[in-house]
Amino acid sequence: MLSGKKIALGLSGSIAAYKGAELARLLIKAGAEVQCIMTAGACEFISPLTMRTLTERPVMQSMFEEPKQWNVEHIAVSRWADLFLIAPATANVIGKIAHGIADDLLTAAVMAATVPVVVAPAMNSAMFENAAVQENMDRLRSRGYHFVAPGVGQLACGDTGKGRLADLEHILKISEYAMRKDRPLRGQKVLITAGPTREPLDPVRYLTNHSSGKMGYALAEAAWQLGADVTLVSGPVELKPLPFYRTIQVTTAEEMAAAVLEEAASAQLVVKAAAVADYTPAETKTQKIKKQQEDFQILCRRTPDILGILGSRKRTGQVLVGFAAETEDLLAHAAEKLQRKHADLIVANDVTMEGSGFGSDTNIVTLLFADGSRRSLPQMSKEAVAEEILQAAVRLLR
Ligand code: PMT
Repeated sequence: MLSGKKIALGLSGSIAAYKGAELARLLIKAGAEVQCIMTAGACEFISPLTMRTLTERPVMQSMFEEPKQWNVEHIAVSRWADLFLIAPATANVIGKIAHGIADDLLTAAVMAATVPVVVAPAMNSAMFENAAVQENMDRLRSRGYHFVAPGVGQLACGDTGKGRLADLEHILKISEYAMRKDRPLRGQKVLITAGPTREPLDPVRYLTNHSSGKMGYALAEAAWQLGADVTLVSGPVELKPLPFYRTIQVTTAEEMAAAVLEEAASAQLVVKAAAVADYTPAETKTQKIKKQQEDFQILCRRTPDILGILGSRKRTGQVLVGFAAETEDLLAHAAEKLQRKHADLIVANDVTMEGSGFGSDTNIVTLLFADGSRRSLPQMSKEAVAEEILQAAVRLLR
């Protein structure tokens, strides 16, 4: 989303201004062009030379300096940009924009902007909680401005609380979100499952599989980007969920079944990317199992087939998407699961291919629809696969 985009990056006078340098670097790494605008306060905290060097463009600082080119600079930058991003934004800058004050280059350029504006506040927590600041943010939100909520932690002033500039990764995600023109899942509740389950044998051992959660987490993010109200039910993985959707952490297939069946009752779309254990040890020992005989057998019992249960309870208008992770006869097994589990779409995933399935950043899948049609996708990033699956689900929801 950021590749080829033109970003006007406004820095104002907070100690977090130094993070603006890393933010500019990340935007450029993602393929964006960055034009930096710094307030006088920002220049006290970080040198314009740093920003000029990183962005390879002169930094815009003052309304009345000799322009680098012949145009009215604050208007030109607003016409040039695809997105206005103010990070860090001080209480002062937020207040001025909320009240239509344009007494420096940054606030004048924002006033002239007709593109999406993202604001990432950074300030002392008492200032952030101040009613004036909260009202100013509400006012801007009601005008369509996007905010990236500050983080909680130790602040430069020594206080601990809410006010740290948000994670730069979150600022990038909200910037992508703000630039999206279509949100076909707006107003829809979407339930996604991700990761493996762990079935305990004793206090120190469990049965599991190689799912990293990457496919499911990519689906959760893509559904949020498409405007959905997302709930992610995740098995134990190393990935950190984004704060823009609700995440329910579970461990066992039984726990996943309980969470999914409850949440699915109000979801219009359910996408089951999780690799749920089909069997769980019939008994979980309370003490560590000691080694004794040469052979050791584990008696297992079936776990609930969550997708199968959802299929049997499917409401009119609800769309169910399952995956089929296979090592042989991919399409035949996937077609059988599509029918047996009453899914609307099965994503057939040959997990033996390089660049596909467990743990990789890419996937190779074929979409099998209930009407018998099929679509094979080439090797793609899991983010791109997620987008394809959700766009297909959007068509099914219609
Ligand atoms: O997490 P990654 O490392 O990114 O890997 C992605 C993935 C390979 C896990 C993913 O792309 C994938 O294929 N997920 C489905 C894995 C799987 O369990 O497939 P299955 O064929 O065993 O199950 C079929 C469907 O039934 C799945 O939607 C599964 O979630 C569901 N199921 C399975 C068992 C069970 N007890 N309840 C279920 O709901």
